[in-house]
Amino acid sequence: MPAPEPSGTTVLAPDAQGIARAAGLLAQGGLVAFPTETVYGLGADARNPGAVARVFAAKGRPLVNPLIAHVVDTAAAALLTRLDARAERLAAAFWPGALTLVLPMREGAGIAPQVTAGLPTLAVRVPSHPVAKALLAAFGGPVAAPSANPSGRISPTRAEHVIEALGGRIEAVLDGGPCAVGLESTILALDGPEVRLLRPGGVPVEAIKECLGVRLLTVAGKTVRPQAPGMMASHYAPVARLRMNVTRPETGEVWIGFGPGCDGAALNLSADGDLDEAATALFTAMRVADVLAGPGGSIAVAPVPEQGLGLAINDRLQRAAAPRPETP
Ligand code: TXA
Ligand code: MG
Repeated sequence: MPAPEPSGTTVLAPDAQGIARAAGLLAQGGLVAFPTETVYGLGADARNPGAVARVFAAKGRPLVNPLIAHVVDTAAAALLTRLDARAERLAAAFWPGALTLVLPMREGAGIAPQVTAGLPTLAVRVPSHPVAKALLAAFGGPVAAPSANPSGRISPTRAEHVIEALGGRIEAVLDGGPCAVGLESTILALDGPEVRLLRPGGVPVEAIKECLGVRLLTVAGKTVRPQAPGMMASHYAPVARLRMNVTRPETGEVWIGFGPGCDGAALNLSADGDLDEAATALFTAMRVADVLAGPGGSIAVAPVPEQGLGLAINDRLQRAAAPRPETP
């Protein structure tokens, strides 16, 4: 059996043995972080209230912020939620993949109430990462999983990020290497007549509009409950201050470039200006820049176009740049 890290969290290889062990830990109410194509998730049995409560505690997550239930396929999603024609169409086009659908939950779905924060809807996603798929198949039930980071901080795209922040608070992490998409799923709410975009993410909005045959999506406005991380002003935050759309950084700022023409940048999200490559690189670049900036330092990020995954990149940068809540 693999030795636990000094922190007490076991790092599992993404092989048959590691996956079986991870599924066994989930079945016992344990917390297991696992790779998805977007970011690492912090998994718990979605039907086990005690396990779900531990997810909120490990992350320091407000109880009003509901979790996504990860399932192995669309049929498993349909056991928990009611998919209408729009949902079926989106599922056929984008599952498995980086899309989360918020749907009316079925009665008797058996989901622990804290997963939905008491809402009548459930967010469901079928991930495409082979390790996530194997884990869901081995476990045989829904896995509630927020991103495996302390609430409000940068999401993890490598197992090491998970250990750094949550080591000792969770039983294990399945190490599947770096995440290919690099930022979280796109979240759509389908609980009313309009399709609402709750969070831009790994599936570009253009592709969703094309699939649905619509020109515009409703972007969720302000509500009392934080319906998605997008509703919380500060999120995805490094320790350093961050400014966006910077073509001329100030002295001492760590400049994250995008595309050609960012000579002198400490890092570049994509030297060729490729938005998919930039999305994959974003969270690691923010972490590296944070270390380079040091205590009290500042990060400046070059402009990123508002198209394709650029929408999700700019969304995350806006939240990273937002004023921070007072830390106690
Ligand atoms: O790519 C992802 O979506 C990753 C991986 C691990 O799957 N997960 C992720 O989870 O980003 P999290 O918890 O960091 O963000 C999901 C957000 C929640 O913050 C919540 O606001 C929203 O989804 N959400 C969940 N259930 C909801 C519901 N019933 N209604 C509205 N929003 C919901
Ligand atoms: Mg998150």
